[in-house]
Amino acid sequence: MNLRLAESTRILERNRGFIPGGVVSVNRAVEPGLVFVRGRGSRVWDADGQEYIDYHGAFAPFILGHNDPDVQAAVRRVLDDDATLMGSGTTLLEGRLAELICRHVPSVERVQLTTSGSEATYHALRIARAHTGRSALIIMQGGYNGWHDAVAANVMTPLSVLGPRVSPGEYPVLPISAGIPESTRADIHVVNFNDLESARWVAQRHPVSCVILEPILQNIGIVKPAEGYLPGLRKLCDEFGMLLVFDEVKTGFRHALGGYQSLCGVRPDLSVFGKAIANGYPIGAIGGRKDLMEYFIHPDPKKRVLIAGTYNAHPIPTAAAIATIEKLSADGGAVYRHIGRLGERTEAGLSSIFREAGRRAAIARQGSAFCVYFMDAPPRDWHDVAAAHDMELDVRYRRALIERGIYHFPLATKQGSISFAHTDRDIDETLEKTRDAVRTL
Ligand SMILES: Cc1ncc(COP(=O)(O)O)c(C=O)c1O
Repeated sequence: MNLRLAESTRILERNRGFIPGGVVSVNRAVEPGLVFVRGRGSRVWDADGQEYIDYHGAFAPFILGHNDPDVQAAVRRVLDDDATLMGSGTTLLEGRLAELICRHVPSVERVQLTTSGSEATYHALRIARAHTGRSALIIMQGGYNGWHDAVAANVMTPLSVLGPRVSPGEYPVLPISAGIPESTRADIHVVNFNDLESARWVAQRHPVSCVILEPILQNIGIVKPAEGYLPGLRKLCDEFGMLLVFDEVKTGFRHALGGYQSLCGVRPDLSVFGKAIANGYPIGAIGGRKDLMEYFIHPDPKKRVLIAGTYNAHPIPTAAAIATIEKLSADGGAVYRHIGRLGERTEAGLSSIFREAGRRAAIARQGSAFCVYFMDAPPRDWHDVAAAHDMELDVRYRRALIERGIYHFPLATKQGSISFAHTDRDIDETLEKTRDAVRTL
């Protein structure tokens, strides 16, 4: 099956004259180099007129689907009302959004808004360091918490590059970017997800300010916490005076209005949100315990944590977030019931397709987010994924789906996301085309 690529290729070539690599955010540069020009509901269209059912959803913010009518109406109201960014004093919109987040997320007593998830994790670390007076932090092997220096390390490092542990608890710190100072790297301690003993080992030896983690590792597919792991981390943090920071940029609002914390029953000190909170509009949030959030207004200037950003709580993404949360909370959670049911259908359908084809595959899923691993059982950590998952087959599988009009980001382990706009017919079509794609692998 051949994709038409003439127009996409022409645009990419042209953009190469102005943008390094031709693509903004170079992790978006993949093969095939499709250029998307339109999206509505569950569907996207490329520059050569080909249509796809979209499961990439721009790295997962689209919980309601592309151009959701209610979110778009809220954005249009902002434009029609001449609501603008003033950057002076508070606004009705930011107060309303903050109130909604506090109401829905159990651990969040106060909120600040940013323009991205990375900024929110950045501020969480600042609070943790200001509060504890310590500079070290624990991150997860295979976790992603944003692009900034303090956390941009060890996401999908091949085992051959990673090498053995540098101590009984830790792995070498391998930044995913050049230009990160050695002094910053020295504060980062990388442990395995689902391995409490390693976190304890580090906590006993280093002045750790916080443990920051995605409660489900969703940047290497769907890697779930083992029974007792998150409560165990909570206890460990209390024992050593470290803050527990849940990075719910991917899990928050995607799996429940109260975040994954409301499903697992663990109360972090701080949480950060982004993505699904505003259905594709750029906004992030940091929230948590009142005493911690009040470091932003600490009476002692030496202890006060700076938060700034010209575009923070811009009325367009803020209105989009309010409309998204209102829709997510309407009809007793109808959105979550719908996407969860389609998630179940997808998982069951994929399982039987791979079984019938005699392919080794494990489907990992949380609600509307899923990932196919070509291995015997869902992984417990990055090491399981890197050692057992057939990455090369994964990319071929994704490309075979794209050729058939099913868009998954063509990079191994990237999460599939179902939105409220997806229908049973979309799932039927997806499964039928997947069956056909799997035959060719
Ligand atoms: C878990 C997690 N945290 C933080 C971020 C950073 O968010 P942003 O891309 O909005 O800066 C991401 C982005 O993919 C993420 O998946």
